[in-house]
Amino acid sequence: MIVAIDGPAGAGKGSVTKQVGERLGLINIDTGAMFRCVTLNILQKGINLEEENKIKEVLDKIHIDLKENGKVFLNGKDVSKQIREDEVNHMVSPVSVIPMVRKKLLELQRQMAKGKNVIMEGRDIGTVIFPNADVKIYLDATAQERARRRVKQNQENGIDCSYEEVLKSIMERDQKDATREIAPLKQAEDAIYLDSTNLSVEETADEIIKIIKTKAY
Ligand code: DC
Repeated sequence: MIVAIDGPAGAGKGSVTKQVGERLGLINIDTGAMFRCVTLNILQKGINLEEENKIKEVLDKIHIDLKENGKVFLNGKDVSKQIREDEVNHMVSPVSVIPMVRKKLLELQRQMAKGKNVIMEGRDIGTVIFPNADVKIYLDATAQERARRRVKQNQENGIDCSYEEVLKSIMERDQKDATREIAPLKQAEDAIYLDSTNLSVEETADEIIKIIKTKAY
């Protein structure tokens, strides 16, 4: 079974997907973390985004491991914290529009889900990666609420940031993600729209589980 959860940054996809996965025994795949790993690796190697050969080399060698406990490993190293830092936040949008990056991650994402029951969160899961997913949900919330949540999450991870900065970066990223030519963020025609602005993580997870149960069982 494939459950696709798409939506903008900070809509609650991460925490909600984790909870739904745990409650229903589905493997949780955070595709944003995968784009962040590619971005971090490009930054680590000091590669310019015009250097296609070098990016190809990064993609050929990259090893991304999403652990069950939520930790993210890049080429054998725990980068869970690093991939959420500002440097990566600023670079991840331009990296995620590079066609060969999307092609590589599409292959990896389909491979990771093969023969498994998964809940996969991202931007293009219901539209591009798994157009035939059993359940598709488009999770949304206002930009202000999403910024508040991101600030809180950063604080919990020991990352310093201001609300204004986060709001600005969320709005810029939304704009870029929704207007890009390749795999833009948009609701799949057959996805169910869910607004989490006034819902807790638990309430949002309850709603999603209700939808999964009516659709897939
Ligand atoms: O969900 P997130 O904020 O961790 O995602 C980081 C970036 O990766 C986001 O700006 C858009 C990109 N992304 C994407 O293009 N496609 C996905 N399926 C997931 C993320």
